[in-house]
Amino acid sequence: MSRIAYVNGAYMAHRAACVHVEDRGFQFADGVYEVLYVQNGRFVDAGLHLDRLDRSLRELRIEAPLGRAALLAVLGEVVRRSRRRHGLLYIQVTRGSARREHKFPKPGTRPSLVVTLHRAPAFPAKLDGWSAAAITVPDERWARCDIKTVSLLPNVLARQAASEAGALEAILYDADGGITEGASTSVWIVDAAGTLRTRPLSHAILPGCTRAALIAELDGSIPFEERGFTRSELREAREVFLTSATSFVKPVLAIDGEKVGDGEVGPVSRQLFTLMARHVLGNRPP
Ligand code: PDD
Repeated sequence: MSRIAYVNGAYMAHRAACVHVEDRGFQFADGVYEVLYVQNGRFVDAGLHLDRLDRSLRELRIEAPLGRAALLAVLGEVVRRSRRRHGLLYIQVTRGSARREHKFPKPGTRPSLVVTLHRAPAFPAKLDGWSAAAITVPDERWARCDIKTVSLLPNVLARQAASEAGALEAILYDADGGITEGASTSVWIVDAAGTLRTRPLSHAILPGCTRAALIAELDGSIPFEERGFTRSELREAREVFLTSATSFVKPVLAIDGEKVGDGEVGPVSRQLFTLMARHVLGNRPP
């Protein structure tokens, strides 16, 4: 692929792309982002991702750098110039660059917008091999995890701990032992009674777009509750899986070195993977 980046109004070679040293994203993590999957040239859940981007910007009082139609045109152009059918679009908006001072810069400072496309495989043809091990670690993040900010240091440290333990994801638990989410995924269980559960939305978790899309796809054949669960319920779950724009539905087969259920992909995860395949591959009206 010819790697292309869009930075503040210009398309350029990825290797030449840069922002100013006093960009507030660089100095204060004063910015937000989105990651969305491109499947065969189609943006998966684009409406959900761009709505969440708008919400993150509003919550932090950062001005939107472009309107929705213009932003979609930029995304399309980055994909077109990259000559790729599949990938991960990364969108980052910061409060712009200004002399370093904690309070907001003066009105009129333009927000920075960066868009890149990352290599990603096509949606996995089958579930075999599409699974993960996880560890659990304390959730050390701030009190507004519903905002998708680039301030990700606790997530970075948690994911590094997972990597050092030979696992893919770090599942976070709060001070009460309740599971919040993964370092970059939403977490779901099928509990001991057979109910599919994921934590309800609040300031403690990111409102996952894949989570929302999967809930919308549920047809009532699986008992489902938006109800949180503890670390011990996670350990006793029949099935555990993760969702995100990059992991779709990804079964977790081991947690903290112990098997989940019998250590094999369970029937609910299989059924939901199939639903997700239909959703991502666009075999139905959007
Ligand atoms: N992460 N929770 C957190 C903390 C996340 O960072 C993400 C996404 C999710 C899942 O959200 P969605 O279904 O909208 O992708 C949940 C992206 C993929 C990332 O940071 O790379």
